Amino acid sequence: MLSGIQPTGSGSHLGNYLGAVRRWVAMQDGFDAFYFIPDLHAITVPQDPATLRRRTREAVAELLAAGLDPERCTVFVQSQVPEHAQLAWVLGCITGYGEASRMTQFKDKSNRAELGPATVGLFTYPVLQAADILLYQADLVPVGDDQRQHLELTRDLAQRFNARSGPTFTVPSGYVGQAGDRVMDLQDPSRKMSKSLPPAGTIYLQDDPAVLAKKIRSAVTDAGREVRADPAAKPGITNLLIIHAALSGRSVADLEQDYAGRGYGDFKRDLAEVVVEALTPFQRRLSAVLGDPTYVDQALRRGREKASEVAAGTLAAVHSAVGFLPAT
Ligand code: TRP
Repeated sequence: MLSGIQPTGSGSHLGNYLGAVRRWVAMQDGFDAFYFIPDLHAITVPQDPATLRRRTREAVAELLAAGLDPERCTVFVQSQVPEHAQLAWVLGCITGYGEASRMTQFKDKSNRAELGPATVGLFTYPVLQAADILLYQADLVPVGDDQRQHLELTRDLAQRFNARSGPTFTVPSGYVGQAGDRVMDLQDPSRKMSKSLPPAGTIYLQDDPAVLAKKIRSAVTDAGREVRADPAAKPGITNLLIIHAALSGRSVADLEQDYAGRGYGDFKRDLAEVVVEALTPFQRRLSAVLGDPTYVDQALRRGREKASEVAAGTLAAVHSAVGFLPAT
């Protein structure tokens, strides 16, 4: 199993945690799991070098604080394993120009003025993502549904390469989260919680308790006053119910019953408590991890070694299949 999470922005948010990281922690035992920080992908849009370096480290620390154990899974940084870029080149040579042009994330990002003019890197982003996955012969790739198309491309490229050059890659399956796992923005519940939306709608894992409570208190709710899940008519309160259920382990139906006849205010107050209670232990572990640089360094060295071993094996097979002259 393999997945990646971008290091950009102001840290991970609740959508990353509930939609991805929490599941990764649960999957580290049942699977041979590889988790990485795609910093090569991060530079497809402008980055400040010092911030990128700090955020990459912090992103790793967040994963460790959330419960990934370097003894039970492989955690690494993409740029430290050069085979990613090397395989991306070969895959780029079997990717159609039109095929790459159809990727919706490229179309979206290349039209966002704040990201500057679109680059070739942004265009070939999905090819690099395919390389990430195929390098490790991943069977399973848990991703959000915004990555579904990139996964389809990965499968197409794997099948195409295998058909042309002989069986080389495992064709991966997606493991796309369901709508229910999706956390929406608190200010605009029609959009997925995202670091690129204003912070008032995004619950960052590192927000302090006062900020968390304020964000929840000011979350957009809907007309009426009933605490009831109804995605069409009450997207705001539905999102808050989903967040509560995900963190408290209670069912949405149970919560609805509990809050019957009570207003949004009560519910939000309790939800703020649930969120603070869930995030406080995480924040404590995060400061411990960040305060122990050798722990992070050792985790990354180990992760890089394990990742490199698998990556080198796949790349050697690919180079041989395409006819590159082996170095002596
Ligand atoms: N593109 C993914 C995202 O934005 C991150 C990513 C890069 C990834 N390479 C990957 C996810 C490989 C899964 C597998 O969420």
